[in-house]
Amino acid sequence: MSRFPHSSQLFRLFRLFRSDPMRTLPWVWVVAMTGLLSACLDSDRDPHPDQVLTRRVGVFKQFGHAMEPLNAMRNGRKPFDRAQFQADVHTLDRLSDQPWRYFPLDGNYPPTRALPAIWTVPEDFQKAKDDFTGAIDQLSQTAQNGSEEQVYKALDRVSESCKACHRNFRR
Ligand code: HEC
Repeated sequence: MSRFPHSSQLFRLFRLFRSDPMRTLPWVWVVAMTGLLSACLDSDRDPHPDQVLTRRVGVFKQFGHAMEPLNAMRNGRKPFDRAQFQADVHTLDRLSDQPWRYFPLDGNYPPTRALPAIWTVPEDFQKAKDDFTGAIDQLSQTAQNGSEEQVYKALDRVSESCKACHRNFRR
C-alpha cells in the first residue's frame, strides 16, 4: 500500500475545501500548528551532521544502565549471581569502546557537559580512556572465577575510573 492518499481522495478533499471552506479550516489550522511545533522541536535538534553529542550521551546513559545491576549486587541489594554478573560485565565491555568515536574535533558544542580539555589535552583524555579499558579488562577476567571479594574490588576500580574521568573531563 502507498503511504500517500490516493489521488481521488486528494481530489475529494480539494473539492470539499472549495465547496465548504469552513469545514476544512480547522484541519488547515491543525496542519499549520503541527508544522510550527515540529519547527520548535527542530531547534532542539543536535546541529552536528553526525549528531555526535546525542550519540555519545546515549552510550554513556547505557553505561549507567549497565552498572545498575552490578552495583545492586555490590551493595547487597541482590545476591551475587556469577552468571548474571558475567552477562552484565559483558554488556559493559561491549559498550566500553563506543563513546570515544563520538568526540571528533568539531564535537564540542552546547549543551555538552564535556570539558574543552578533551580536545586541548588529548593525551590526558587518552590516558583516562586507557585506565577505564584496563579496569574493564580486569573486571571481565576476574568475573570468570575470582572470589566475590575480588570481583567487587575489580568493579570498584571500574567505578573509580568512571569518576576520575568525570572529575577531569566533565562539568
Ligand atoms: C574517559 C572518560 C570517561 C569515562 C571513562 C566515563 N565517562 Fe561518563 N562521561 C564522560 C564525558 C566527557 C561525559 C559528558 C558527555 C557530553 O555531555 O558531551 C560523560 C557523561 C556521562 C553520563 C551523562 C549522560 C547525560 O545524561 O548527560 C553518564 C550517566 C555517564 N557518563 C556514566 C558513566 C559511567 C557509568 C562510566 C563508567 C562505567 C563512565 N561514564 C565512564 C566521560 C567519561
